[in-house]
Amino acid sequence: MSSLQAIRYQRGELLVLDQLRLPHENHYDPVTTSEEAFDCIRSMRVRGAPAIAIVAALGHAVELHNGALAASAGPFDTISYIDSRLDYLYESRPTAVDLGNAITHLKKVIREAELDRSKIVQAYIEAAEEIFRKDTETNRSIGAHGASWLLENAQVATLEEKVSVLTHCNTGSLATSGHGTALGIIRSLHEQDKLVHAFCTETRPYNQGSRLTAFELVYENIPSTLITDSMAGALFSTRKQQDHIAAVIVGADRVVRNGDTANKVGTYALSVLAHYHGIKFMVAAPTTSIDLHTETGAEIKIEERKREELTQISGAVVAKDGSVDTSRTERVAIADQRIGVWNPAFDVTPAELIDAIVTENGVVTKGADGKFDFRHVMPERW
Ligand code: MRU
Repeated sequence: MSSLQAIRYQRGELLVLDQLRLPHENHYDPVTTSEEAFDCIRSMRVRGAPAIAIVAALGHAVELHNGALAASAGPFDTISYIDSRLDYLYESRPTAVDLGNAITHLKKVIREAELDRSKIVQAYIEAAEEIFRKDTETNRSIGAHGASWLLENAQVATLEEKVSVLTHCNTGSLATSGHGTALGIIRSLHEQDKLVHAFCTETRPYNQGSRLTAFELVYENIPSTLITDSMAGALFSTRKQQDHIAAVIVGADRVVRNGDTANKVGTYALSVLAHYHGIKFMVAAPTTSIDLHTETGAEIKIEERKREELTQISGAVVAKDGSVDTSRTERVAIADQRIGVWNPAFDVTPAELIDAIVTENGVVTKGADGKFDFRHVMPERW
């Protein structure tokens, strides 16, 4: 079985799986310019913090490879052209920091290259490709570190030392270049035969959980169950042993210096519930999702999205006999269209409600002072 791929790339060609059509249709869109990359990210055909950064970086790499920059451009024109395209891409979505970190890195790389147009372009393309390549490696390390930490620290009466977990949103292959972050930990637990069951929330309003995570879990044959976001409390208070959740494991769009974490809206509520029930709360975050320039979660800009995400829904048509017609997708209204709507895409979970932040370089927990300190896991470049 081939693994799911949100992003397909070879030099000069980028194909992005349209996640708005999942789980019913497998359709890849070519991305040939920064404008197309921007649109793909803004419309959420690709989403998830690492995948957004990869598509932005590679979208511009393809454009450069295919000759978007005038052949007569000198080295300084080349640098300012690349800067301006990256600044434009930066505006596509504001909350996830991976994009900003990738852009900072790429701008540094082109300034370190030899002062020659084609050398600068080459350095950019290679660095963008490296971001893509490294991401899966990073996720596999997060999976391994997170699985070991949880098995050592799970405080439930485990079934033969196995655990059940709950995850929110989508953090799998579809949100990354492969394997996933929080879902990567779940995959690693499953690979090690240490997972009893994975629960995933529907993740209203955009349903990344029901449309994407459920799809990935079924695709990988991982024992799993879908619940609505509002069922988490009922799940945690159910004392059936197979439902005894050892941890909530989520991804991150931005982890700031004190450990406060912005992630898909609903994450904060889960952290409060987990705390009340004595369930571990784990954040899976590559170091590219860590922002040491921002002190606390109060400073994070939270993206607000359009009202229709709450008042309308789209899906494949269900025939009278219950079969799903995947060739027909329809959009339907599910609320009075005149109602006022507030639609923040993310919320901030305070550091005090987080037990562990799992990076590719190790697990960060609070020190004796009750604070997170990321210094020992951050690569030098940050
Ligand atoms: O709005 P989205 O779908 O881009 O939000 C995605 C999330 O919140 C993910 O949990 C997060 O980006 C981590 S992805 C590995």
